[in-house]
Amino acid sequence: MRILFFTHSFNSLTQRLFCELSGRGHQLSIEFDIADSVAVEAVERFRPDLIIAPFLKRAIPGAIWSRHCCLIVHPGIVGDRGPSALDWAIQNSVANWGVTVLQAEAEMDAGPVWAAANFSLRAAKKSSIYRNEVTEAAVKAVLTAVERFASQNFVPERMPGQAHAPIKQSDRAIDWQHETTASVLAKLNAADGLPGIAGELFGQPCHLFDAWPEARLKGAPGSLLGRRETAILRATADGAVWLGHVRRTGGLKLPATLAFPEADELPELPLADCWKAPAPTWQDIAYEEAGGVGFLSFEFYNGAMSTAQCRRLGEAFRWATARPTTVIVLRGGGDFWSNGIHLNTIEAADSPADESWANINAIDDLAEAILRCETQLTVAAVGGNAGAGGCFLARAADFVWVRDGAMLNPHYKNMGNLYGSEFWTYLLPPRVGPDGAQAIMRHRLPMTAPEAVRLGFYDACLPGPGFAVDVARRAAELAAAPDIEAQLAAKRAKRAADEATKPLADYRAEELQEMRRNFYGFDPSYHVARYHFVSHSPHSWTPRHLARHRDLDWKVPT
Ligand code: COA
Repeated sequence: MRILFFTHSFNSLTQRLFCELSGRGHQLSIEFDIADSVAVEAVERFRPDLIIAPFLKRAIPGAIWSRHCCLIVHPGIVGDRGPSALDWAIQNSVANWGVTVLQAEAEMDAGPVWAAANFSLRAAKKSSIYRNEVTEAAVKAVLTAVERFASQNFVPERMPGQAHAPIKQSDRAIDWQHETTASVLAKLNAADGLPGIAGELFGQPCHLFDAWPEARLKGAPGSLLGRRETAILRATADGAVWLGHVRRTGGLKLPATLAFPEADELPELPLADCWKAPAPTWQDIAYEEAGGVGFLSFEFYNGAMSTAQCRRLGEAFRWATARPTTVIVLRGGGDFWSNGIHLNTIEAADSPADESWANINAIDDLAEAILRCETQLTVAAVGGNAGAGGCFLARAADFVWVRDGAMLNPHYKNMGNLYGSEFWTYLLPPRVGPDGAQAIMRHRLPMTAPEAVRLGFYDACLPGPGFAVDVARRAAELAAAPDIEAQLAAKRAKRAADEATKPLADYRAEELQEMRRNFYGFDPSYHVARYHFVSHSPHSWTPRHLARHRDLDWKVPT
């Protein structure tokens, strides 16, 4: 079928559906929700059999849904109607939630139901639920709905329902004097990553994001108890909550201590044992060891890795290589493995060009440390999504095991034609061939985990459920392999041979020469693209590589 996506943006859920449906032989094209007239034009040019709206913030124009079947992906259970569906469910701590695929009609989310899928609702950030449970349920429900539509003999049923009001900041407001940690966490989780909760810090208005529970520390309710690296600890009625990120009025979402330099005055609350700590508390880098394997986790908000984070992770990695292990697993975070350099901290710097340069060098240092590790086999366990430099940072490890369901974007050009570094010119071509490397970089399209393995870019795709357990088992097997010393020797020999052919320093210098041009050169595309990305500027057109119906050689089907 020809399927047209109407969507607010090409977010990870939309990317996943795009890949799943394309992989099943459907012809897809995408139009961003820019204006009704643009949507109508897209339908006229593409002549779709079916329209799907994976992520839409406005209604589909009546001129379209009255003539074409339009399926809306609603992040709520059957009968739930209206905006803020997931926000309400998380804030009210409901036990089960779901996704419904329903047909667009005049009344919002009230059309006949084509398919639905449910899940149990974790106590986690909205963005995390969206990228995991909602995405998996949406894939299931959309694939079912598409099959039913194709069968031409399914009659969708109209279900009774109740519309809820959009959630307002007044519904989200936190009373720090009287609310418990559980209640504060539920509210902050329900508002993450957007819009956050309007509040104040140091007497100044801001929006709060990225809450972490704290098990041991307490203080006078509402007071700021201290800081750790980039987070600030605030007391609740019965405990305390770490605030990782804030957005000051008119500013960007930033690590809390960067947004508020006043936090310097707060007492530093270091972890008792640097990389190992009893949870729960705020700890973005954590290390544990079992059966000859070291597991290094790095839970960086949104997968963005600032200069300081890259340096601290590098320090932790070097420390881990000195441990008596033979395998190191780089676990990344729950939702993202890495999305490369931190575009927000770069944007907020006095000189974004200088900060871009410092950040890319810091992430390259980390990639180089992984590539040059001689004492352990390294595994990148990509459980969360990865984008741009993050995909190549993972490839710096000897093995990359990726969770089935993770979305990958191993290319840079979407960020203002960025050339990219992280040794991609060394790491990608041997895996996929020079033409394959060029195609991946040029097409700028997302890649599923099975596709990454099929292309040879990554090594193994492991089932979503039980990924962490599977990784631990495989890593333990690797460490226990009778030929582990021979494998390490072979790794050292391969690195030495590669170094003799062309030193890593040369790859790095060549990539950085291009990056220097991106950061400091005459063409400002990267700076413009970064500004729009971090500001979440509305799209004013759909990129040509997504809107197939706008290709110059596109022939309107008859
Ligand atoms: N730096 C700072 N913030 C980043 C980031 C980065 N490198 N990558 C993602 N984010 C933020 C987004 O701004 C968004 O912020 P929000 O919490 O305010 O909404 C959040 O992470 C989620 O990103 P989103 O684009 O909604 O996630 P997605 O899963 O739909 O898409 C990507 C994933 C990777 C395609 C997309 O985030 C992206 O293109 N990121 C930029 C990658 C990049 O160019 N890195 C620099 C070159 S190495």
